Amino acid sequence: MSTSLSRRTFLARTGLATAGAGALGLTACTGSDGPTAVRTGTGTATGVPAFDPADWASVRAQFGLDPDLAHFAAFVLASHPAPVRDAIATYRDELDRDTVAATGQEVEREDAARGAAAEYLEVAGEEIALTDSTTMGLGLIYHGLRLGAGDHILTSTHDFYATHEALRLAAAKRGAAVQRIPLYDDPAAASVDQIVGRVRAGIRPNTRVVALTWVHSSTGVKLPVREIADAIADANRNRAAPDRAVFCLDAVHGLGADATSPAALGCDVFMSGTHKWLFGPRGTGIVWAHRRAWDHLAPIIPTFSGPSFGAWFDGTTAPFQFGLDGTPGGFHSFEHRWALTEAFRFHLDVGKQRVADRTTELAARLKDGLAELPNVALVTPRDPKLSAGVVCCEVNGRDPREVVNGLRSAHRIVASATPYQTSYVRLGPSIVTTPEQVDQAIQALGAMT
Ligand SMILES: Cc1ncc(COP(=O)(O)O)c(C=O)c1O
Repeated sequence: MSTSLSRRTFLARTGLATAGAGALGLTACTGSDGPTAVRTGTGTATGVPAFDPADWASVRAQFGLDPDLAHFAAFVLASHPAPVRDAIATYRDELDRDTVAATGQEVEREDAARGAAAEYLEVAGEEIALTDSTTMGLGLIYHGLRLGAGDHILTSTHDFYATHEALRLAAAKRGAAVQRIPLYDDPAAASVDQIVGRVRAGIRPNTRVVALTWVHSSTGVKLPVREIADAIADANRNRAAPDRAVFCLDAVHGLGADATSPAALGCDVFMSGTHKWLFGPRGTGIVWAHRRAWDHLAPIIPTFSGPSFGAWFDGTTAPFQFGLDGTPGGFHSFEHRWALTEAFRFHLDVGKQRVADRTTELAARLKDGLAELPNVALVTPRDPKLSAGVVCCEVNGRDPREVVNGLRSAHRIVASATPYQTSYVRLGPSIVTTPEQVDQAIQALGAMT
């Protein structure tokens, strides 16, 4: 009884179902059937020009970013394009008017968000869990992995605080050991062979997790994830399933900047906030886990999914389904979570490959310009195989924060300094940046002697 308990029953049992929710046809939304890609948000932002996905000026006009600034750090935390703003406003108003009626549509809208993410990532919806950020995804996955005393976790020195801390805390709990290795010495000169060779050499017989980041926010280096996945597959070839090394990727600076799907990348787990390059609702994120990794994962925060809740009513346990069970339960800032559908839809409308190509084109223009400047040392590789939208550089040995402040105050250019022990000036051209602004940034940095 419990395992077949539908999410509709869950709603009815918890009093969340309303006449409105029933009328919306929740039969399409059972956990086992997987999600449906339902278009939601219906509002219309005022004063925003009609959206023409084929026109970059129109795409930029959908954002409420200050037009007097050139935004090269919009990826730090997303500004929402009009369709996402509209959806958030619509859902917020609904929640403000009648929280019970609005949350009665929670299952359908969450499934819609999962469905849109699945369409974008070219994966199955039941493989996608919804989170609040990359950091939440990293914490849930690294703490949820079935690790034991003496297990080895391989990561790199280039990873962000959130990966290092999640691994440190998880390893301390399980008696596992974390090893950080450098994958390159000079980021500008990094090569596929060097990076893959170091991962290959770092894997030990007791390595159970390889925890890496797709695009390093420390240097802008994009890892050759496919080749690394192949090296890990070689190491796993003769291992029993429980002993496999699981390849987990912090994908936050790749998602929305590089169109490669997680399946094509070949990783086992793909964790990302959707509030950076994807320009999704602030406080949202996803985790995708390939089915071969499901046996290695356990939930950390109880889900509110129908099957799990229903099993609790019945005193049993529901079979593990990553997308539902990996999504932390509790009530959320639902207006943001539900509007995630519109963020994926926005990118699909523009074309995810077009977005990636535009980002690559602008980043290449920036790097080509910076490489010509005698006072600037480019840190990020110029090869698009080894870089995405993050471009890091040094300016005459000056403190990066001072350079970033100067760019803003004297040139109205918004950049950031990398939050690492060795810090660089970081610029991220994206769909909200023009080629002319890229040229202005090159000129401004060139003038900093
Ligand atoms: C590589 C990397 N991972 C994770 C994060 C944190 O992302 P979130 O805000 O989605 O937790 C950042 C920066 O904010 C980052 O640079």
